[in-house]
Amino acid sequence: DSPENASLRTPIVAVLGHVDHGKTSLLDQIRGSAVIEGEAGAITQHIGATAVPLDVISAIAGDLVDPDDFDLPGLLFIDTPGHHSFTTLRSRGGNLADIAILVVDVNDGFQPQTIEALDILQRSQTPFIVAANKIDTVPGWNPTDDAPIKPTYDKQSDRVRGDLDERLYEIIGELSDEGFSADLYWRVQHFQRNIGVVPVSAMTGEGVPDLLTVMMGLSQRYMREEMEIDVAGPGVGTVLEVKDEKGFGATVDIVLYDGTIRTDDTIVVGGTTEPIVTDVRALLQPRPLAEIRTESRFERVEQVDAAAGIKVAAPDLADAMAGAPVRVVRDRDIDDVIEEVEAELAEIAVETEEQGVVVKADTLGSLEAMADACGEAEIPIVRAEVGDVAPRDISVASTAEDTKQQVILGFNVDVLDDAAERAEIDDVRLFTDDVIYQLVEGYEDFVEELER
Ligand code: GTP
Ligand code: MG
Repeated sequence: DSPENASLRTPIVAVLGHVDHGKTSLLDQIRGSAVIEGEAGAITQHIGATAVPLDVISAIAGDLVDPDDFDLPGLLFIDTPGHHSFTTLRSRGGNLADIAILVVDVNDGFQPQTIEALDILQRSQTPFIVAANKIDTVPGWNPTDDAPIKPTYDKQSDRVRGDLDERLYEIIGELSDEGFSADLYWRVQHFQRNIGVVPVSAMTGEGVPDLLTVMMGLSQRYMREEMEIDVAGPGVGTVLEVKDEKGFGATVDIVLYDGTIRTDDTIVVGGTTEPIVTDVRALLQPRPLAEIRTESRFERVEQVDAAAGIKVAAPDLADAMAGAPVRVVRDRDIDDVIEEVEAELAEIAVETEEQGVVVKADTLGSLEAMADACGEAEIPIVRAEVGDVAPRDISVASTAEDTKQQVILGFNVDVLDDAAERAEIDDVRLFTDDVIYQLVEGYEDFVEELER
């Protein structure tokens, strides 16, 4: 007995991994294959995301996918730049992403952001698979463009195969060191218990059919029920980024994971001081064929249905927070919706102490992850906020009674010029990094030094 407007939404797939391991290339390859299959028009560019419908997946995957086995509409891939924490992709009660692809360069293996991503996947219980990328760089590799992995693997010489196997087992070993049992994907029976590793090349397209098949299968098998939404309902989403846009002022890039958003909607967005109530002025999508990374020219749309990535232009968005909730009011009481947003924000709120360090982070999700890491390392926090390091943060830090707490830990944020000066004068130590555990370790080294 599903609601009247029940429908199945597109599962949201986060593509994450260390800088330069090939996340964007993998999505470019999928878009490129769709063009070759004559399905270019079917793939839609979203803000920060790419929607790939089932028929395109089935065209790319060939024999591997029978579209009759699926009723989910396709997959929405979200590209997370390596410098930007995947923790942004948060939604109520967990992670915004339904499933994830962790991209690992077979030459480079595990790197700091790979480990960080794994940590977050584990904490948020997000099912994922590993794309062992750049297999074409194995010396002597003989490529077959766009081929599934089995035939192309069988075609390689014994030496090349051995070389690839070695790298794949290295990755499987590293996963095991991090507490995940993993194997090559065709040997995995239960994808919830074991992590499947799919060898791919974002350059030649080899293994991409397998990757899409596994993702589609995983979603259908384990996510199907969670995909039932009220399509016509008021939209619910998460802010990915707050950006100034010429002619529009401050805008928010959001991922809508439930319902719809229209140009005549009033929305409530989580802000740095309080929820922002505002009227949508425009809904913007990148123009077809526009490079997703440039995002310079937009097309106005009247309505967007979940799941989708969209830029929302509206007044008063300058104080919106990355990682904060967005809710469409539609024909409900505004106060109820504000309350929902406040409740959601309260859930993410960081517990602070009378004395401790100041923590700044780029998004709500990363702030939460920082707070978790500090908690584990028994580092008390006096103040935790989203945003760059500003002079008033220095003031707070400088009042700490303990020298080792006259400190600011900044994750993925900039230090404003006057704040840096102030820190110098007030003798406040600034630690910044784009990898959480490195930030915490850096601080712990400092404390150790002090106590020596
Ligand atoms: P960030 O967004 O900066 O985190 O990087 P990314 O993970 O999106 O990596 P990107 O796709 O930009 O690729 C980085 C470099 O690796 C580029 O020069 C790509 O051309 C190259 N590359 C990516 N995938 C492959 C592959 O499968 N084979 C080869 N030979 N090169 C690849
Ligand atoms: Mg990229």
